[in-house]
Amino acid sequence: MSTPENTPDDAPQEGFVDPGLAHHRPRRADVDPKADKRAERQVAALFGLSAVGTVIALWAYFTKDTGDGGDVATIQSVNMWIGIGVFLAMSGIGFGAIHWAKTLMRDHEMVEERHEMRSSDENRAAAIQNLKDGAEDSGLAGGEGEGAKRRSVLKGSLITAMAIAPLAILVPQIGNMGGDWNVSKFRHTMWGPGVRLARDPDGALIKAADVTVGSAYHVIPEGLNDLDHHHKMDAKAKAVVLLVRLDPSDLKIVPGREDWSFDGIVAYSKICTHVGCPVALYEQQTHHLLCPCHQSTFDVSDGAKVVFGPAKRPLPQLPIAIDDEGYIVAKNDFDEPVGPSYWERLKGDSSGAEAEEESH
Ligand code: FES
Repeated sequence: MSTPENTPDDAPQEGFVDPGLAHHRPRRADVDPKADKRAERQVAALFGLSAVGTVIALWAYFTKDTGDGGDVATIQSVNMWIGIGVFLAMSGIGFGAIHWAKTLMRDHEMVEERHEMRSSDENRAAAIQNLKDGAEDSGLAGGEGEGAKRRSVLKGSLITAMAIAPLAILVPQIGNMGGDWNVSKFRHTMWGPGVRLARDPDGALIKAADVTVGSAYHVIPEGLNDLDHHHKMDAKAKAVVLLVRLDPSDLKIVPGREDWSFDGIVAYSKICTHVGCPVALYEQQTHHLLCPCHQSTFDVSDGAKVVFGPAKRPLPQLPIAIDDEGYIVAKNDFDEPVGPSYWERLKGDSSGAEAEEESH
């Protein structure tokens, strides 16, 4: 056997035999007309599924109730159906095209030898013929051949699926451009004068005497748990609050809010002013409230102003007091819409929220 030491440079190399192309094995659809027809129907069904997905997405979008009856559960359901529709619309086309290529289009190995930049006339003619054959195979390019006739169903279903699939994405975008931004829906919550603060989720009322310095409570309005499921989810999404008690000497009172807290107890909306995640990670030592989504950090001891992260506004504060029985109650609703900032937030809002926002 040759070794590197005794093999001359021009000696034939051993162990590198060109295996050549694997023997071509025809697929079932190549030899069985029934299999061919079955595969064609499967591809058409996938394209049809795509079209159904588009219809589902559009149906879900147009049944969305954006009026006062629209609640969180409805919107969750609509979003789910839009997602399912878009998934079917896109994957139907994708899987259909893959299945078509793998089962029906020709699968002969093509070998392209290295050659000078310009192919010979024969090769060019052969390449053009290959393209024509492929186009005829697909049935997309018309023609007189058998393939063009056989694939007319596929052609029609693909064109239909591809023509309407973009609607599943475009229509919601276009529709939202003129969206209903009635800020009154965001502005009012269940909180109001005398509404007691209750623990989330059991609804137990909270007495000021039970709130120790350094503790934090997740809070809902009294009576929220008595609502039916849909209205409860809708109301809770806007009204959730975090209540904390600080040493009163650590608390910086925001001008104009001198009577919004009680003996170091303050309450702030839990809905992040960035894009609305629940802000619920309270650091007792620093008095910082952290949003887990994008790390916006709010200083509870200083009006919940933003000390870090992408949020642009402090958390809205809920003014609180104590009633005759020692329970913590709201003095009023929030004085500004809770949740994320948005351009239309001030439009039609006559309650002074504009002045409030500018003051931050
Ligand atoms: S939603 Fe809170 S930081 Fe983005």
